[in-house]
Amino acid sequence: MANNKSGFFSHQTLEKNIGWMIIASILVVSFAGLVQIVPLFFQHSTTQPVAGVEPYSPLRLMGRDVYIREGCVGCHSQQVRVLAAEVQRYGSYSVAAESVFDHPFLWGSKRTGPDLARVGERYSDDWHRIHLRDPRKVVPESNMPAYPWLEKTVITGENVSERMSALRKLGVPYTDEEIAAAPKAIEGKTEEDALVAYLQGLGVGVRKAKQAEQAKQAEAAKKAAQSAAQPAAQAATGG
Ligand code: HEC
Repeated sequence: MANNKSGFFSHQTLEKNIGWMIIASILVVSFAGLVQIVPLFFQHSTTQPVAGVEPYSPLRLMGRDVYIREGCVGCHSQQVRVLAAEVQRYGSYSVAAESVFDHPFLWGSKRTGPDLARVGERYSDDWHRIHLRDPRKVVPESNMPAYPWLEKTVITGENVSERMSALRKLGVPYTDEEIAAAPKAIEGKTEEDALVAYLQGLGVGVRKAKQAEQAKQAEAAKKAAQSAAQPAAQAATGG
């Protein structure tokens, strides 16, 4: 054994002493975790909403609560992964900044049914109502449970303002006026109305903002091409 005189700060101390090994492992993992996690609290791409993402209206907020209560997240994810097959099927992949107003987020990890992050406006409101009351009526092979009671349950919503105030504490920018007007906005609505409103908004703002951005870019490219072509055309006609 050539190395049996190594001191306390040698690697042997760790290798031969499980207590030090555990302490050193915890230190290394904690430090590595902090390096990865702490910047996320300050990074714009995770703390600022992307274009098109807005706080939920009172009705959609109540719909989201129904979605949580009924456990839809147990069968449906809300995150399109960065894979070509997913993007072709559902639409652009999800980014963290889409969920800044989601407390808690509903990304999910189980996909008995399709991902719902981009389902907004894919079907009509009536399709959703029929589907929620009895999925087999529109998709015969569906094994999704029916939720016929939603249509018959009026939202009481007495605490919708409190919910919005709580979300404001977590950083959702609701104004005092919006919070005060919330109970009126959901008056007489059923849980089904709320859930359909929630589903019909999923992914819509982001898609429209992206389309507007693309249209702007196409317009700019067209203008650039025109102004590049003009001098050539003038030269050709001798003007
Ligand atoms: C046991 C699993 C399960 C649960 C729970 C469940 N679903 Fe589904 N869902 C499915 C399956 C499977 C499909 C695909 C067949 C169909 O369209 O019915 C589906 C389809 C859908 C679709 C159509 C998606 C698309 O892109 O075509 C919507 C919208 C939907 N579910 C909403 C909900 C909502 C809202 C809830 C909670 C109230 C819920 N689901 C609960 C399994 C489930």
